Amino acid sequence: MPGRLLRPWAAVTLVTSAVSPASQPALAAELATLASRVAEEAAELLMSRRGKVGLVRTKSSPTDVVTEMDRAAEDLIRNRLLAARPGDAFLGEEGGQYGSGAAGGLASTAGGSGGSSPLAGTVRWVVDPIDGTVNYLYGLPDWGVSIAAEVAGEIVAGAVCLPVRRVLFTGVSGGGAWLESSWQAGRLRLSCNAGVPLAEALVATGFAYGAAQRASQGRVVAGVLPRVRDIRRSGSAASDLCSVAAGHVDAYYERGLKYWDLAAGGLIAREAGALTGGLRGEAAGAAMTIAASPALFTALHDLLAGLDEPEAGPGSSPGDSHQVAG
Ligand code: IPD
Repeated sequence: MPGRLLRPWAAVTLVTSAVSPASQPALAAELATLASRVAEEAAELLMSRRGKVGLVRTKSSPTDVVTEMDRAAEDLIRNRLLAARPGDAFLGEEGGQYGSGAAGGLASTAGGSGGSSPLAGTVRWVVDPIDGTVNYLYGLPDWGVSIAAEVAGEIVAGAVCLPVRRVLFTGVSGGGAWLESSWQAGRLRLSCNAGVPLAEALVATGFAYGAAQRASQGRVVAGVLPRVRDIRRSGSAASDLCSVAAGHVDAYYERGLKYWDLAAGGLIAREAGALTGGLRGEAAGAAMTIAASPALFTALHDLLAGLDEPEAGPGSSPGDSHQVAG
């Protein structure tokens, strides 16, 4: 692949895990660089096997699939991150929580459970090895590797690599959201679309895997569609959040996201000027995630609050309990 995107793996400087507040801006930038490199390497692995993968199993429903490559990519990401930063904790969609930060030593809870945040002052990586697994399986372009770094419960750095689209999004807390691609030189600072009225907003959304949740989401989207410019469903929450950041859509909402779906993309959207949040003052999370510029956020929030239905069917997991500030 030409250009900087999907460059070969290069050794990353080893850094210690203890984090003091004063060192955080520099650390966040360093974590974003590491996340970007590892995301690109995982994306390269995934590209090499695209179209040749089989289903390993289904998860929460027959539509919720895992491929052998979800696991292979997560293994690579965990190995690379923990080789560079051995004391960090790791939370992955497929393997669950690994380690508890510098103070906790290493212990694994398998099975995709959310695990709890590590001790303040330590770094935890939050990883979705393939966000958009169904797209990956079908050869559609919107899937990517999402890697976020969390310090004391806050996402401070994130990278989302969408290799078919040849783009890499990064976000650094307080340091902006950025786009690199193999079709443009340098990196572009992102800014979400502002001043878009709800009636003219292009709104991305997504649907959960459970049938009852989907039926509810169908009723909600039927209430949204007549009130906006149009609806888009890419099949990757990370891609949708980065699309808000890049102005490719004006807003995004979805119910049922897991922490790893929105950790990196949520930071990237916020660093591009978007608000992220849930309903009625809650943080973005499983119950609802909305991302848009501030005025549009409020308008979409109010519409969704009026359409909101009580949680339908199963779908809660420990991973749901994580919320993303913003
Ligand atoms: C899914 C995608 C999809 C969204 C689902 C997510 P996965 O992630 O982000 O767009 O609608 O809610 O679960 O399962 O492909 O990692």
